[in-house]
Amino acid sequence: MTTSTAIAAALSVLGDASSITVLTGAGMSAESGVPTFRDVQTGLWAKYDPMTLATPEAWQENPALVWAWYQRRRAMLTAVEPNAGHRALATWAQSADVRVVTQNVDDLHERAESSDVVHVHGSLFACRCDTCGREHDAEVTDPESDRLSPPGCECGGLVRPGVVWFGEMLPKNAFAEATIRAEACDVFILVGTSGVVYPAAGLPHIARGAGATIVEINPDETDLSDACDITIRSTAAVALPALVDSLTTNG
Ligand code: APR
Repeated sequence: MTTSTAIAAALSVLGDASSITVLTGAGMSAESGVPTFRDVQTGLWAKYDPMTLATPEAWQENPALVWAWYQRRRAMLTAVEPNAGHRALATWAQSADVRVVTQNVDDLHERAESSDVVHVHGSLFACRCDTCGREHDAEVTDPESDRLSPPGCECGGLVRPGVVWFGEMLPKNAFAEATIRAEACDVFILVGTSGVVYPAAGLPHIARGAGATIVEINPDETDLSDACDITIRSTAAVALPALVDSLTTNG
């Protein structure tokens, strides 16, 4: 299936759909220049393995190191902008029932003015107390160092990043809402995810089981490609505007 025939096939099902759910992954933010989980390891961070920093053990052992790392990732996000794919999803939702579920911890969907985005892996900007769970704002300052003491909570605990660390459970309300959106949609679109991290990668299977048509937007084949009805071998910032421009101008 060529990209143009895949887009035509997607337009055909999307034109008849009353509810669309979109699951995005790191590829959604690639054209915004968001450093991926591993690309942020430059300069003084080059000597650290991100897989060991994003863990409850690292936080227990050295909260100042982990907090400084997440501050740097937040600061790097302020230097980039949502791309045409993020903006297309926000525009589309103004005239259709389009709901976004993301594995990304960045805020680019929100900055493109998508609303009600479900973050199944948490968010860099949703900090909370590591003891009482109270939510806290995170100021964005580049730490310029690999140590920065995390703020304290009134309860005596420490303010931690609101992201899901390796070995942690997903936020149960977020995943429950993501499941509801997978079950309720007529078309489920996967954008920019390799589909290797469960349980998020199980969402398209849930959607398929509920009768949805599955569409993949990814320049590369993934572990989920075989489960998709339509695969658009293109990028988020090219394919999403092409689909949305056609759907919103043709009414
Ligand atoms: N447009 C669309 N897809 C793209 C683009 C693009 N411009 N650029 C890359 N991709 C695709 C890649 O081909 C790949 O299939 O995006 C996918 C990104 O895969 P991963 O890097 O594995 O990201 P993701 O699937 O979101 O990872 C899931 O794993 O690292 C953990 O918790 C983290 O949420 C993350 C989870």
